[in-house]
Amino acid sequence: MPTLAELAHQHTDLDAGDVGHLSALVSEWGMLADFSFADLLLYVPAGSRWLIVEQVRAATGRTLYQADYVGTWASETETAVLDRCRNEGSIVEGEIRVQAIGGTAQMVAIPVRHEGRHVAVLTKEWVPDQGRRTGQLETAYLEIFARLAEMVAAGLFPFEGRLADAAVAPRVGDGAIVLDGTTRVRFASPNAVSALHRVGVSTNAVGQTLAELGVAEGAVRHAFERREPVIEEIEQTADVTLLTRSIPLLVRDGSSVRVAGGVVLLRDVSELRKRDRLLLTKDATIREIHHRVKNNLQTISSLLRLQARRLESPEAKAAVAESVRRIRTIALVHETLSREPGEDIEFVEIVRPLVRMVEEGLQSADRPVRFVVRGDGGRLPAAVATPLSVVILELLQNAVDHGFPEGSNGGSVVVLLSRPDGELVVHVANDGAPLAEGFDLGSAAGLGLSIVRTLVTTELAGSIAMRSAGPGDVERSGLAHLGEGRGTFVELRVPVSAD
Ligand SMILES: Nc1ncnc2c1ncn2[C@@H]1O[C@H](COP(=O)(O)OP(=O)(O)O)[C@@H](O)[C@H]1O
Ligand SMILES: [Mg+2]
Repeated sequence: MPTLAELAHQHTDLDAGDVGHLSALVSEWGMLADFSFADLLLYVPAGSRWLIVEQVRAATGRTLYQADYVGTWASETETAVLDRCRNEGSIVEGEIRVQAIGGTAQMVAIPVRHEGRHVAVLTKEWVPDQGRRTGQLETAYLEIFARLAEMVAAGLFPFEGRLADAAVAPRVGDGAIVLDGTTRVRFASPNAVSALHRVGVSTNAVGQTLAELGVAEGAVRHAFERREPVIEEIEQTADVTLLTRSIPLLVRDGSSVRVAGGVVLLRDVSELRKRDRLLLTKDATIREIHHRVKNNLQTISSLLRLQARRLESPEAKAAVAESVRRIRTIALVHETLSREPGEDIEFVEIVRPLVRMVEEGLQSADRPVRFVVRGDGGRLPAAVATPLSVVILELLQNAVDHGFPEGSNGGSVVVLLSRPDGELVVHVANDGAPLAEGFDLGSAAGLGLSIVRTLVTTELAGSIAMRSAGPGDVERSGLAHLGEGRGTFVELRVPVSAD
């Protein structure tokens, strides 16, 4: 569908300023439609014809038009009313034939004034409901619409540079209070009365000023003084939060402009705000728990280290040292989680410190090993990140232990992360000693690979493959000397939902 700006550019000679004014009008006119209980259309003159560039329906009333008329031309009867509006330069009313309903309807045509010129016509189109008595709310709203229509014709609406954020601003249906020029309440809609009850106003508000009621007075005073709408969130009590939008109703008086009254739209956002606060505290609690788990794990690893010092057997010492590293890996995940707002983490942010930990713990000066992390695993839920970190630790440890055993010259270990569709793929490659002849992952008996196998197949529902590296792995790993009896290549695939 073409936009207002495109249609105006194609068919009219309205300038950018005019189009900006019309755009501002339509971004605010949901409120006008709601007060009018009717469909509103915006027509721009194109030669001797009129083109419909925007259309809106009321949330409060029935629509006359099921179809969309944007980009279509005014009919003969419509053109007659629109022409009259342009020629007289004021608000006019007339009867139009509406093909869609096979009958007649009423049209109020309001000239849209911008910088002293009438640049378009805003219309309200509806079928009067004969014989029905108009209620108090309807009368009050229609009067507001008439005032706003006068403002449009006088170039006082939309307000300059003051657009409401449509997503948050309260709407007419949320609750509306009509004020006179001294902020005395002349009418309050049933929803507004309910909102007032919640903040403790149980008397009849009509006839009292906002100051007397003790509600939203500051916001309205600001709106009246500045002659522009003011949005304000008011925490009336500890439990009740009202979102208000105060709109001054302006009248041109010769060369000056005066405030003749106002409208306050208000919405009870207490539940929303309570939920926001709850979410905030829940988030903080989860982070605090991760922090404490990390501290507890650090305490456990310190205790184990103390115990290892008293052991005589080098084998026992090594076994406990491995356990310490595994526990520290899990602590690392919790530390990262304690800094992040949600329950998932950027996985590289764990892999990097993990690699550093192995680097610091397993290095020896006579066989230096270089570590590289490449790629990006995206975000992972904690339930995947924790076991996966333990698995990667084992693979890194094995790459160092078995790829570069004592007596070798050292080399490189690469961790590659990638995230193809629905999967996380981790490659751990080293360019040291290859796998032993006849190595079989399924029957490998060490504790490290047992942990890896168990976590990958049960906790992660993934797969793992280990093989001696071939020349084909050179490009993928970025390691220059793979194959020909050098290197081991491990591939890990874990299903994860898309980011
Ligand atoms: N990256 C690797 N390169 C060569 N051999 C490996 C590699 N990873 C594992 N292996 C072989 O698999 C065996 C089992 O490993 P693991 O279960 O971690 O026990 P451990 O490391 O205590 O020996 C190792 O002893 C080694 O022979
Ligand atoms: Mg091992």
